[in-house]
Amino acid sequence: MTDLKCKIGSVEFNNPLFTASGTFGYGHDYPDMVDVSKIGAIVTKSITLEQRKGNPPPRIVETPCGMLNSIGLANIGLNNFINDVIPKYDSLSTKIIVNIAGSTIDEYIKVLSELESSSTDITGYEINISCPNVDRGGMEFGVDEKLSFELTTELRKLSQKLLIIKLSPNITDITKIALAVERAGADAVSAINTVVGMQIDTNIKKPAIHQTYAGLSGPAIRPIALAMVHKIAQVVHIPIIGIGGISNAQDVIQFLLAGATAVQIGTANFNNPNLYKDVEHNLIKYCKQQSVTHYSKLIGAVELYV
Ligand SMILES: Cc1cc2nc3c(=O)[nH]c(=O)nc-3n(C[C@H](O)[C@H](O)[C@H](O)COP(=O)(O)O)c2cc1C
Repeated sequence: MTDLKCKIGSVEFNNPLFTASGTFGYGHDYPDMVDVSKIGAIVTKSITLEQRKGNPPPRIVETPCGMLNSIGLANIGLNNFINDVIPKYDSLSTKIIVNIAGSTIDEYIKVLSELESSSTDITGYEINISCPNVDRGGMEFGVDEKLSFELTTELRKLSQKLLIIKLSPNITDITKIALAVERAGADAVSAINTVVGMQIDTNIKKPAIHQTYAGLSGPAIRPIALAMVHKIAQVVHIPIIGIGGISNAQDVIQFLLAGATAVQIGTANFNNPNLYKDVEHNLIKYCKQQSVTHYSKLIGAVELYV
């Protein structure tokens, strides 16, 4: 018998396989064919204070081994989320982590406090810090240690629920931000968000994405994500949730060996939103082959050359 139960903070998940924000809707509207009980947790699309239409099209394009997106945080807004979506979580056979985005610290605070007072069906929050901060001339929260520390400190004061900070890879040294949010009281970090990229349509000599630069995801970014997770694992003591180009059990195992306690699957959902069953099956198979009774024995077990 292989045990996949996964602990992050004080929360126990059925397995370490979560969905990644923006690739599985709000979690209540998954396709019929998906067995959500095979998913450790659903991370919602980013919720902002106000409803957002997002960026103009084209905002998604395929790239070699991945995709670029610049959705621009299109979402239904906090009020609609609280009134229309949260009540539907009652019947869901998995846990819900709400991803929050904002353009000022105040906005993050408002969203999290409202959610705190309106729902007990939420397991925790994932904070998307890859957002431009209007108070600092558009600089992203996630590239500044002090700002990431301040934001995490403020949010920590508001909730005892799981607080996960989602890190941006578009930075020189991701470990500095990981350490800053750990010091500020985050229960876990998730890494990585999308990598800045660009594609040009040569027929029309225009960028393939309206906003010119966009976020690269999918297998193309997996080696980048894996290196970042491994680096973070060398410096923090809180759990790491690995994200980036994961589409099968071998990918999951790589992230666990690099030091992740759990993983999120994003772009791969667009090919097959029901892949969790197979991934779980093959992860268990690997654990058996390795004579591992609890999957956590794999965490950080990569053996480096000396
Ligand atoms: C279409 C799309 C929309 C996304 N929207 C969000 C979002 O709203 N909030 C967020 O934190 N990350 C968002 N992401 C980033 C993913 O959650 C994930 O960090 C990234 O795609 C890397 O994982 P993957 O390679 O498995 O897709 C989005 C990604 C895609 C492809």
